[in-house]
Amino acid sequence: MTNITKKIAVITGANKGIGFETARQLAREGFHVIVTGRNLQAAQQAAGELTENGLSAEALSLDVTNEASIVAAVAAVERRHSRLDVLVNNAGVMLDAFDKTPSQQPHEVWHKTFDTNLFGVVEVTNAFLPLLKQSSAGRIVNVSSILGSMAANVDPSSTFYSFKIPAYNVSKTALNAWTVHLAYELRDTAIKVNAAHPGFVKTDLHGVDAPLSPAEGARTSVQLAMLPDDGPTGSFFHEGTVQPW
Ligand SMILES: NC(=O)c1ccc[n+]([C@@H]2O[C@H](COP(=O)([O-])OP(=O)(O)OC[C@H]3O[C@@H](n4cnc5c(N)ncnc54)[C@H](OP(=O)(O)O)[C@@H]3O)[C@@H](O)[C@H]2O)c1
Repeated sequence: MTNITKKIAVITGANKGIGFETARQLAREGFHVIVTGRNLQAAQQAAGELTENGLSAEALSLDVTNEASIVAAVAAVERRHSRLDVLVNNAGVMLDAFDKTPSQQPHEVWHKTFDTNLFGVVEVTNAFLPLLKQSSAGRIVNVSSILGSMAANVDPSSTFYSFKIPAYNVSKTALNAWTVHLAYELRDTAIKVNAAHPGFVKTDLHGVDAPLSPAEGARTSVQLAMLPDDGPTGSFFHEGTVQPW
């Protein structure tokens, strides 16, 4: 076991994009960050960039759709640190075919999207829960999207009403519902569970036309990872503002 006294944070899909910037900002805030990725080499490169700049980081292989990978990652964190303070479920995919309507999206797209954006989050979270319960102030951040907001999707006056990216949006709606259910289960514990909308961010997932930088997109996840003990649980935020479910 290591003798790290800092708070420990695991971030999924942290080799690039919003996840990498979340890891960087949490490390700057004094966390020891575990930069996970499905490609270990990419995670090692990302963690190396942090340690080269004097930050406390390590890399770990974690494919959120692979049960053996999840079990091995949890075992490694338990062996090295015996607890976990923050889990940021950041890994996500957007696989929809933009030239197809909701009813035309290939079933494979629905399955693959849900495997990562919902089932991956549920399995990773459940596997890390015993270690999060060892923390005096566990925080779970589910990186969602305003595109998963049912309120926005049914309101013709919403900016996001016409952004119908079916498998992606519905997977984030389900992720929001999972957030509410888990927060309810853990309501009498020290663990807070919240969903984050990062904003629209220049990454491989969204593309270069988005208004925010990855560093700006990481801010909501970092805020929710560092909530005080009297902070909210079971809510949906963007930059400190509650978002409609
Ligand atoms: N960008 C936006 O405007 C925006 C808006 C709202 C919400 N979000 C959400 O923000 C999160 C981060 O997205 P991003 O924009 O930073 O996209 P990104 O740059 O494409 O990063 C996505 C990350 O998820 C990882 N990932 C995908 N499948 C995985 C799996 N099975 N196991 C482990 N990691 C996996 C990717 O790994 P690889 O490098 O190996 O592919 C990558 O590290 C996502 O949940 C996304 O839905 C983004």
